[in-house]
Amino acid sequence: MKGIIDVLLEREASRDSALAAFGGGVVCDLTAFAASIYMRGMELILVPASLLAMVDASVGGKTGADYRGYKNLLGTFYPASRVLISTQLLSTLPDKEFSNGLAELIKHGLLAGGDLYKLICSRKKAVRQRDITLMEDLIASSLRVKIGIAEQDPCEQLGIRQQLNFGHTFAHALETSSGLKLSHGEAVAWGIGKALQAGVSIGITDAEYCREVISLLEYFGYPMDLQVPDTRAYLNAFKHDKKRRGNVVPFILQKGLADTLLYPLEMSVVEELVEKRHR
Ligand SMILES: NC(=O)c1ccc[n+]([C@@H]2O[C@H](COP(=O)([O-])OP(=O)(O)OC[C@H]3O[C@@H](n4cnc5c(N)ncnc54)[C@H](O)[C@@H]3O)[C@@H](O)[C@H]2O)c1
Repeated sequence: MKGIIDVLLEREASRDSALAAFGGGVVCDLTAFAASIYMRGMELILVPASLLAMVDASVGGKTGADYRGYKNLLGTFYPASRVLISTQLLSTLPDKEFSNGLAELIKHGLLAGGDLYKLICSRKKAVRQRDITLMEDLIASSLRVKIGIAEQDPCEQLGIRQQLNFGHTFAHALETSSGLKLSHGEAVAWGIGKALQAGVSIGITDAEYCREVISLLEYFGYPMDLQVPDTRAYLNAFKHDKKRRGNVVPFILQKGLADTLLYPLEMSVVEELVEKRHR
């Protein structure tokens, strides 16, 4: 962070100068944060290079920097004036990174339904092969979903943006408690499966839809059958959740495709879920 500000000073950048980021989500977030605070804000251009940055980190206006080991402790809301995307960059992206971005892209498809979801389901093989034309369509649709949601709640104050956390509450607890070497995308996909299963077990989610989504995510190689190694540690991870009220934590669930809601789940439901396998 200090390095970016130092270079801006050395180059005598002014409020009229533009700062451009070329890289994954970390580079985009950090550069955006620097642009937002340098002289109270300069023009920001993002050229996201990872799939995750293309479909998620480059839009919505959140900036972030880690501090003393705390992830995104510093941050502002500061949208880029331009986001330039080239799907050619996906050809060099490692599989693990592709899979991280794909999990968010599929999440956007589940939130919005429509053509995005249809395209993911009908062209699964081409998605895995990173077909450039298809990826352009998918990224454009996915961006429309994220922008549509973020624009209704730009500073995350109205609760509308919370639906973007679909799968993430289950996922974060796994990441913080299990010590498993999982990528974020794997944890999110697993978390989406758990959120749908939770909905089925309390009678609000269509069971057929739940099966369909889990099988789609399995096709893309996500570990949907993963067992939580230590249930106690997993449940403890919710202890510090700011939204927890007694034994109840609000989760983003879905009744079906594009039918999303915030629902308070008893920890006993979560416990039962993480103790049984998906099938
Ligand atoms: N601002 C937001 O709304 C938002 C949303 C989601 C995630 N994020 C943030 O994004 C970050 C994760 O982003 P990420 O997944 O891109 O991780 P990352 O930035 O760490 O990039 C992942 C790896 O891929 C490499 N890489 C990127 N593009 C490449 C390419 N085209 N070819 C080869 N290698 C390439 C990077 O050098 C890095 O090693 C997290 O810090 C997260 O908090 C922000």
